[in-house]
Amino acid sequence: MATLQVCAACGDRFSELDPAVRCPCGGLLELRHDPPAEDGASLRRLFQGRLGDREEANLSGVWRYRELVLPGAGGQIVTHPEGNTPLLRRLPIAEWAGLPDLRIKHEGHNPTGSFKDRGMTVGVTQARRIGARAIACASTGNTSAALAAYGAQAGIPALVFVPAGQVALGKLSQSLAYGARTLLVRGDFDACLRLVQEAADQLGVYLLNSINPFRLEGQKTIVLELLHQLEWQAPDWIVLPAGNLGNTAAFGKALLEARALGLIDRLPRIAAVQAAGAAPFAQGFREGFAARRTVKAETIATAIKIGDPASWDRGVRTIRETDGVVTQVTDAEILEAKAVIDAAGVGCEPASAASVAGARKLREERLIPLDARVVTVLTGHVLKDPGALITYHQEMEPAPSRANRPVEIEADLRAVERVLGREGR
Ligand code: F0G
Repeated sequence: MATLQVCAACGDRFSELDPAVRCPCGGLLELRHDPPAEDGASLRRLFQGRLGDREEANLSGVWRYRELVLPGAGGQIVTHPEGNTPLLRRLPIAEWAGLPDLRIKHEGHNPTGSFKDRGMTVGVTQARRIGARAIACASTGNTSAALAAYGAQAGIPALVFVPAGQVALGKLSQSLAYGARTLLVRGDFDACLRLVQEAADQLGVYLLNSINPFRLEGQKTIVLELLHQLEWQAPDWIVLPAGNLGNTAAFGKALLEARALGLIDRLPRIAAVQAAGAAPFAQGFREGFAARRTVKAETIATAIKIGDPASWDRGVRTIRETDGVVTQVTDAEILEAKAVIDAAGVGCEPASAASVAGARKLREERLIPLDARVVTVLTGHVLKDPGALITYHQEMEPAPSRANRPVEIEADLRAVERVLGREGR
């Protein structure tokens, strides 16, 4: 077999096609692939050679790196394709953050508008490989959108558990549109995650939350692709928003493997950014991760409104092994960062803006030096959360300084002139 599943808690090993998502001891599983035959330089050439190749797997920004993702997937992959997201430089955003060498990896450019597609192409491929009769997840909205889309493509029924009344409109719409059975649970995300795990156990449905190790293998490619775009010159920092900590875990695994394989020669430091009202991991970091923390989560950034992160231990590992940090930003800071990102023509959903707000804060605290090469990850598209946009621009009183209030007029040229004249003065 090319891949083993290994329990991070007790070390037990399971075959690649074992459908259990957790070890019987309760520990989370991690995938270990046989190391590729190629050395770092040959792998870099292999990946580069696949750019521009029309083969389906090579068109995907996930499967292009398949030796490090799921070498045995073969002809069974379910791909849109996904990935191939841009690494942007935008002066207004860099200036606002106070970091001249700031780049933005925009994962909102994925097919369903978030990085979750990278995990889901692998998760649903695995569901097909093991013959799952249905797939399920709990979600703050993006995972469920991706699950619904990839499930539809594979022809596998999808079941999603989302917190009633707390999912951004774009995301809920996607789950309905792609045909997932959508359960609006009276409770928060943490309650949804508990419930879906019980349901998956009882009903024999394949669980595709980020505790599923196959998801993380796909999400590693955010890092692999950005390193590739930087010609394998590792940046000094990678900054990302953190909720359930699946992505934080995936980033650490990607970096450690990339270094071990000789793709890069040094590790960037990871900065995980939480919303202040949903920041158990930031609290844990301040305490030297002495204990696992949980909170009752509250934030405008509904994607990361999570009080009991499932990938806590592997998140801690990422922070420790990359000499990383965890910080938190207020909702006001998130909204300001988002307004700057949006007005630069880039756009993102609120949770994504936490990364840029966090980078700015770490710069202000002098933790990130002025000349650092920094990559911030925008995790979701601006249209995911139209409600937050309308509230900010149209409804908040007093108007935030960056609010772009629309003006209602009569259908009359003079009214247009009046508005333009007023603005010209
Ligand atoms: N950004 C966005 C846009 C997200 O949707 C999420 C997570 C995160 C950041 C945080 O990533 O959980 O791996 O630390 N969304 C999950 C969901 C929880 O259900 O869509 P994480």
